[in-house]
Amino acid sequence: MSTPASDAFRYAHAHRAEIAWLSQNTNHLVPPEVVRGALDEAVRERLYEGYPLASGDPELLDLVVRDFRLPGVEPFVSSGGTESLYMAMRALLGAGDEVIASDPSYLIIHKFIELGGARTVNLDIYTPPYRLTAERIAEAIGPRTRMILLIDPLNPLGSGYPREEVRAIAEIAHDHRLLLLNDVTYRDFSEGHTLAAEFAPEETLTLWSVSKNCGLAGLRLGGLLARPELLQKVVRYNTNDLGVNVLAQVAARAALRTKPSWIGGVVRQTRANCERIRSVVAGVEGTSLPVYPSRANMMVFDVRETGVAPEAIQDEMLRRHGVFVRAGNYLSPKHGAQFVRVSFSNPPGDIERFARALPEAMRTLRARAVAPAPR
Ligand SMILES: Cc1ncc(COP(=O)(O)O)c(C=O)c1O
Repeated sequence: MSTPASDAFRYAHAHRAEIAWLSQNTNHLVPPEVVRGALDEAVRERLYEGYPLASGDPELLDLVVRDFRLPGVEPFVSSGGTESLYMAMRALLGAGDEVIASDPSYLIIHKFIELGGARTVNLDIYTPPYRLTAERIAEAIGPRTRMILLIDPLNPLGSGYPREEVRAIAEIAHDHRLLLLNDVTYRDFSEGHTLAAEFAPEETLTLWSVSKNCGLAGLRLGGLLARPELLQKVVRYNTNDLGVNVLAQVAARAALRTKPSWIGGVVRQTRANCERIRSVVAGVEGTSLPVYPSRANMMVFDVRETGVAPEAIQDEMLRRHGVFVRAGNYLSPKHGAQFVRVSFSNPPGDIERFARALPEAMRTLRARAVAPAPR
């Protein structure tokens, strides 16, 4: 029997030291010395005793702006990108507004959209090319459309947008006076990535995060970049009047200062892991990869033809093998019962544990599925 996701998380956290954490697209490949020295010093100086500068550490904000090289934008820092997403949706959407989005998607954003009575129009993208297209977005625009949600690369599928598609989508936003939320949390994993703000600077809010690229998910730091007029509308809803976590800012500053020297190595290992997972999935009958190669640090494998439920796979992998992958149900209302998501910015040893566990878990679950019920 499968158990709720909250139980899986409770179990995984309780056994953290023994778990290969392939479930949250976190990054375990950044050399620890990148932030260790800066954090040690901040703790020694007891920086945590005082409030930070409320608007954010100036050097950190400057590093974010320089990392993105978008002219005319202002940075905003929050407790993770998640908080900025919440603020943006509360500030910019009203009851009855529609947001063009996808299924599968990172559904936490959809939840924020719905809080104020707006709704998402979810275009089914679990079919080639496994992403939105400008054409389908244009067709979906109606009188209540207010925003396009463009997550690039996309969690969970790992699909990314070619430059010309980003341009075409941005032009639609501009021509129809729609807001464009460009969530680029996984941008550093995607070669030749294009920012929508390049083509629709007035309409675009760019969501940044240091959780995945810099391996700092536990510190909770991210934010927005946008033209001042648009950003002002959002930051009225800022809950962090006294600033965000001072140690998180110190670590993010240290990581962004040095990112050019280590990100190449992180992405290379992530790609090698992606290829290794492909070869493992290819050896398990009935499983397949809708999107390969991933342009992010995660992808999904489809298990529909195995007849085994993704939740059962999640449970078996976690509790028998100590390998934490995620069932698709929290990522797709329509197709969540068909796939499992696996992330892979991990040391090769974690990926080898996945390689050993998946074939065995599937053999066990298949045998259980065909065994007669106990009398
Ligand atoms: C597409 C996407 N956006 C935003 C976030 C949240 O990032 P943060 O850790 O900065 O809150 C995630 C986290 O998984 C994500 O996948």
